[in-house]
Amino acid sequence: MLGLKADTNPAWITAACANTAALLIDHAHCERKAAAFAMTLMQRYPTCMDVVKEMIAIVQEETEHFALVFEYIQQRGLTLRHETKGVYARRLHEAIRTADPERMLDMLLTGAIIEARSCERFSLLAKHIADPQLALFYESLLASEAGHYATYTTIARNHFPAREVKRRLTELLEYEADIVRSLPNIALMHG
Ligand SMILES: [Fe+2]
Ligand SMILES: [Fe+2]
Repeated sequence: MLGLKADTNPAWITAACANTAALLIDHAHCERKAAAFAMTLMQRYPTCMDVVKEMIAIVQEETEHFALVFEYIQQRGLTLRHETKGVYARRLHEAIRTADPERMLDMLLTGAIIEARSCERFSLLAKHIADPQLALFYESLLASEAGHYATYTTIARNHFPAREVKRRLTELLEYEADIVRSLPNIALMHG
C-alpha cells in the first residue's frame, strides 16, 4: 500500500484487536503528534507558502481526528494517559538529516511514510476489529490519511527534483520496512 515495502505482521493485528483500550489511547496520541508535526513544518518553513497552506489544512484535520478518538475514549469510560513511547517514530526520526535543504525533504517524506503506514493499519483494523463502531471509524479515516500522504509527497516534488524525491523516498521506505519487521507487535498504532 502506498509504496510500503513490508506488510504489518499479523501478530500486530491480533495484539491490537485484543486491546482496543490501549490502541485508542495510542491512536489519540498519534493524531495529536500528526498535528504537531504539521505545526513544526510551518514553523521551520514559513516562507514556503504551499507548506503553510497545506499544513493549516492538515493541522485542522489531524486535530479533528484527535477529537474523534478522544470522544471514543470518553464514551468507553477510558482516560487519556501519557503516551507509551514506541520505537517506530523514534527510529524513523533518526533518519532525518539535520541540515537543510535535506532536512526539509526528509521531514516531508517521513511524514508521508507515517501516513502510508497509518493507512495500512487502519485498513487492517477496519477488516479485523470485532467492534463494528470502531471498524467503521477506521474505515472512515483511510481517505484522509491517504490524502495526507499525497500532500507531503506533492510538496516534496514542488521543492526538490523528481529524481531526488524518488531516490530518497525509496531509501526511506526500505529503512521503514526494516523498522516494521523489527517491531514487537504490541497494541500501539505503530508498535
Ligand atoms: Fe489523522
Ligand atoms: Fe494524517
